[in-house]
Amino acid sequence: MGKSVLVTGGAGYIGSHTAVELINSGYEVIIVDNLSNSDRGSIEGISKITGVEPKFIEADCCDKEAMRRVFEENEFDSVIHFAAYKAVGESVAEPAKYYRNNLLSFITILELMVEYGRRNVLFSSSATVYGDAEQLPVTELTPRKPATSPYGNTKQMAEDILRDMVAANDNIAGIALRYFNPIGAHPSALIGELPRGVPNNLVPYITQTAAGIRECLSIFGDDYDTPDGSCLRDYIDVVDLARAHVVAVDRLSNGRNKDRYEVFNVGTGRPVSVFELVRGFEEANSLKLNYRVAPRRAGDVKAVWADTTLANEELGWRAERDLSDTLRAAWEWEKHVRQ
Ligand code: UFG
Repeated sequence: MGKSVLVTGGAGYIGSHTAVELINSGYEVIIVDNLSNSDRGSIEGISKITGVEPKFIEADCCDKEAMRRVFEENEFDSVIHFAAYKAVGESVAEPAKYYRNNLLSFITILELMVEYGRRNVLFSSSATVYGDAEQLPVTELTPRKPATSPYGNTKQMAEDILRDMVAANDNIAGIALRYFNPIGAHPSALIGELPRGVPNNLVPYITQTAAGIRECLSIFGDDYDTPDGSCLRDYIDVVDLARAHVVAVDRLSNGRNKDRYEVFNVGTGRPVSVFELVRGFEEANSLKLNYRVAPRRAGDVKAVWADTTLANEELGWRAERDLSDTLRAAWEWEKHVRQ
């Protein structure tokens, strides 16, 4: 006991990369996923990359009886909870679906942790909790802004639920990781992001445009008050992000956390504009992308990037992958998917 981790949503984009890094660090991984936005191919990918087949249980985290069996039948004392819906626009159209799934799944997991005496939990939060921040870069102490979408609200509410559960239960310790913009794929091209339908996020749209699936990338706004007029974001390589989970689980497992509830920004600390990212993709992969400038997208903030001092100092973690390597990996993955 102690070296096993339950990974909910482990067949998904960030979950599968984290499973790989956990296995490579000597953890035994148990994946629970309902495959609502992922498929078994990622479990195969994890096995191929690591040479270890993780235990996979197809179940919905909102199904308490199914989850109870997972807790009954498996020994682990850490849980990483990735399982959630993540499309901002869809959450505006179908808020109940988002509140039900994202909150009920987490509450179910937390209740079972208390009941079965499992101590450590990592929660996938998001830089979206900062909204349109007044001061940049944002630190963990930067005030959260009222959420602008039900999706963002589920992240804020889940952070609060975790904080309150930790306060009420001496035997629970939790960390919320606030991800900035995760991009890229495993360098093996065996796992990566699998957006369904038209991608909302920039990098999948870019790779699908390069692959000829989309005709033209729209750059949403070139009239922002930024150096080149396009928005600034902090694009974090998914493998670097996955490693942050491993060190956070290590910290909880070793009892090194100072407070039983902590929050860390997980980004590079470097703002990159949409134009820079597009150019970076073209250069890294020696190709030309078809793009045009389009009007601003509703709900976009002008700029957000992380102050990563806390993660650097407390977790001993920093982003290492070079942006051009990340953008090469994104393209390799897209080509692999289309084969
Ligand atoms: N963008 C384009 N064209 C596209 C897609 C995106 O120009 O086709 C731009 C956006 O305007 C933005 C940047 O690329 O400036 C990044 O956009 P993404 O959609 O990739 O990422 P966001 O920063 O909008 O989204 C992130 C997370 C969400 C989170 C959201 C809230 O991915 O989970 O921040 O701010 F909810």
